[in-house]
Amino acid sequence: MRFIDKTILSSDITPKAVFENRRALIKTAAAGGFGAALVPWFSREALAVSPEKLSATPNTAYGKEETTPYKYVTSYNNFYEFGTDKADPASHADSLQTRPWTISIEGLVKKPITLDIDALLKIAPIEERIYRMRCVEGWSMVIPWDGYSLSKLINKVEPLSSAKYVEFISLADRKQMPGVSSNILNWPYREGLRMDEAMNPLTLLTFGLYGEVLPKQNGAPVRIVVPWKYGFKSAKSIVKIRFTEEMPKTSWNQFDAREYGFYSNVNPAVDHPRWSQAMERRIGDPKGVFAPKIKTQLFNGYADQVASMYAGMDLKKYY
Ligand code: MTE
Repeated sequence: MRFIDKTILSSDITPKAVFENRRALIKTAAAGGFGAALVPWFSREALAVSPEKLSATPNTAYGKEETTPYKYVTSYNNFYEFGTDKADPASHADSLQTRPWTISIEGLVKKPITLDIDALLKIAPIEERIYRMRCVEGWSMVIPWDGYSLSKLINKVEPLSSAKYVEFISLADRKQMPGVSSNILNWPYREGLRMDEAMNPLTLLTFGLYGEVLPKQNGAPVRIVVPWKYGFKSAKSIVKIRFTEEMPKTSWNQFDAREYGFYSNVNPAVDHPRWSQAMERRIGDPKGVFAPKIKTQLFNGYADQVASMYAGMDLKKYY
């Protein structure tokens, strides 16, 4: 299983610079820089998994699809702060200290605030919602996320009318995150949404998955999940939320603006400059390499909830 999955998945297209930088990371790992032995693929016990339960009420209004098995959700990840290989986050994220953790909400708001993770958890009831997730690289999963709509937090801080965008900033600490020593991305990892996108009920401030506290490799202790956009818009392990008038500069957009637009809405009709976005492969399909690819849907199938935000916009231009 491991061999088959790694074979196909490594053929997923990765930016050229990432391949080049990967060599440097491999050297770091070989020199003991990551300080952790390689874990067997899919061995749940060996992963940096927190078994702590998180009480969440299922909300099936957002979807009822069959979910991707936990072992795939937690072992096949992108989290470049821990390396560029899909297995790196599960192997190396153990060094991330998720408590104490504070998050500051600042910028163009009436009531800026710094909250401890426990206080943040109490802002609104935690729901479990099943979301489809589509990565720009062509793979997808269906994940039961635990959290509440980001709008609940935004309403508390009362944004000013000049606030047009929201920026999400992840932790970047070399001591805890070996990948931050590489120059693959401009650290800290930054992402952003337009204000209406951030206020859309689908945008989830996320603390867990499968009824458990987020595993570190999935962005503990708090991350964003934006299911109608490519996966990189869903910033992990965030420490700051900032309200701005200008469109935020995001890490991937700075990396290559042609390949990673600010909007990055899932759209089968708008190709990535180097590959088609029309189809996707569901991770965890029992047929493995032989599983037929499935058609990618506009806005990842969430058009009813989000299409109106883009009415009249040329989605080829605003990709
Ligand atoms: N957040 C941070 N801080 N660093 C990252 O490298 N990768 C993104 C996103 N958030 C990333 C990140 C990408 S490319 C994807 S596909 C998703 O996280 C994957 O993580 P998940 O499988 O846990 O959703």
